[in-house]
Amino acid sequence: MSAIVIDGKAAAAALREEARQRTERLKERGVTPCLAVILVGEDPASLSYVTAKQKALAAAGMEGRDIRLSETTTEAQLLSLIASINADKSVHGILVQLPLPAHIREEAVITAIEPGKDVDCFHPVNVGKLLLGRPGFLPCTPHGVLDLLKGQNIPTKGAHAVVVGRSNIVGKPLAVLLARRELNATVTLCHTGTKDLPFHTRQADILIAAAGTPGLIKKDMIKKGAAVIDVGVNRVADTSARGYHLAGDVDFDGAAEAAGWITPVPGGVGPMTIAMLMRNVAQAAEERGGANGD
Ligand code: GUN
Repeated sequence: MSAIVIDGKAAAAALREEARQRTERLKERGVTPCLAVILVGEDPASLSYVTAKQKALAAAGMEGRDIRLSETTTEAQLLSLIASINADKSVHGILVQLPLPAHIREEAVITAIEPGKDVDCFHPVNVGKLLLGRPGFLPCTPHGVLDLLKGQNIPTKGAHAVVVGRSNIVGKPLAVLLARRELNATVTLCHTGTKDLPFHTRQADILIAAAGTPGLIKKDMIKKGAAVIDVGVNRVADTSARGYHLAGDVDFDGAAEAAGWITPVPGGVGPMTIAMLMRNVAQAAEERGGANGD
């Protein structure tokens, strides 16, 4: 193995400490940053994510409202709950864990969240600001990826960044952020309709795998010395007691022989997502100003 393995846990710990200090300063002004986390149903992966988010909030000294709703909750009930939290000045951020059960329209739910409380940066208004380069929230996972690149001094200016996957949460916003003038990367966005994926990935100085396909990116798809960032978190069934293991979109052992830098799964991008969420909650609380309940 020749690649530098990027330690996402260490980078995330530094960000979480920064969020803790911002929280301390807010509390001196009588404001306790507060995030409402809503989970509908009992999807095991979602359950583990919301538990991790509540733990991170507590560690940062923030308040977490842990709202668990049954699988049979109607869309109207969820929208009415969101309206009441939008109006509650003591809550600075609202996060509805995705995916939602099939009978609830994700789009309707995301659009119902007050944009100033949309710490995921999923609301059309916030996505529009992101595209236009206006100030606002940045989406947590893409922001975490950029922070890992920065932490390793991996140059983006003039670099060719290839993003594999066009999801609204990761691929699309990452492509837009990397192409911003401050970062100045040349971006290729690949997806399931791309012909000859290896041709494109081999051009990448920075290769970001966010397709949700375990082991998609192999050693022979990577340019020697490239930075390979693996956003995939795939549960692959096995015979262990847990019944599965986590696998990224990158075949780590092979890829590490070609790459200059690589992120592991777990312990790479994953911890950065929650750390950036803490940063967005602090930002929301700072921007709202005033003591809780004002
Ligand atoms: N499901 C998977 N990732 C995310 C995320 O970043 N935010 C929310 N709300 N749901 C998710």
